[in-house]
Amino acid sequence: MEIAVIGSNMVDLITYTSQLPKAGETLEAPDFAIGCGGKGANQAVAAAKMGGRVMMVSKVGDDLFAPETVANLQRQGVDTRFVTTAPGTSSGVAPIFVDAQSQNRILIIKGANQQLSAADIDAAAEALTACQLIILQLEIPLETVYYAIDFARRHNIKVILNPAPAVADLDIAWACKCDFFMPNETELEILTGMPVASDEEVKLAGQTLLRRGLKNLIITMGARGSLWMSGDSVHQVAPTAVKAVDTSGAGDAFIGCFAQALVKTGDIAAAMTQASAYAACSVTGRGTQRSYPDAETFQRFLNVN
Ligand code: RIB
Ligand code: NA
Repeated sequence: MEIAVIGSNMVDLITYTSQLPKAGETLEAPDFAIGCGGKGANQAVAAAKMGGRVMMVSKVGDDLFAPETVANLQRQGVDTRFVTTAPGTSSGVAPIFVDAQSQNRILIIKGANQQLSAADIDAAAEALTACQLIILQLEIPLETVYYAIDFARRHNIKVILNPAPAVADLDIAWACKCDFFMPNETELEILTGMPVASDEEVKLAGQTLLRRGLKNLIITMGARGSLWMSGDSVHQVAPTAVKAVDTSGAGDAFIGCFAQALVKTGDIAAAMTQASAYAACSVTGRGTQRSYPDAETFQRFLNVN
């Protein structure tokens, strides 16, 4: 395998509605869809759909969602040898609300993902050391994330850390040990306590993290495009203009595609350009993973966008 994702699986329960109920109120929502998600799995699936050889180290629950979660990963070509069951737990689930402006609001219940531990990384050690890149997010215990970063450093494997969902107590010293730190603008705001309304503000917030020793900071900003900051250099990728239908999981599409392109070519700027278009393509379809194109569909999208 080339890429390992040590991270979450969730089942996305997506309600399409512009109105959320108040306490005691019952509201009817126009539409609903269920699909496989979880930031870790989404990134693994995006990388696999683009042709990457991808494995996951992950936990599923002891419930009816688990077999479908594993089967779905396998259908997408993700190696699931190290996706194991946490007895007596529920699978991770994510109630998501998508409004008429296609913006998403996500609640996560981590469930089995909370049980992913250092022992699971050790159990997968041999397969992991054959990988060139490990991708991490924050839907598993922080100490497991730190252990994974240490494991990667010891074995000379590149690391992407996506600090999502944002946790204010993330230790930036650990982030500095990673090759790539990839928050979205909201996560950057939470991590720095600085405003991110304009590109200039994003850059100022980014600089405070770089001064603390980050190597490569890549900030995804949705319809505002993305930014790569490293040392004194700033590289900006303009967004691909599309009509958004559902933005959930777009950041994960970016990271999965970026990882695959990076492993393939090593060209960071080119990987960002491709990832940016890939994420744009994903927002034109409903759902998270289910809206990620394979390489062929993505090529057709590029031909017309
Ligand atoms: O980033 C989108 C993902 O966040 C969803 O798939 C949901 O499962 C949550 O993990
Ligand atoms: Na989508």
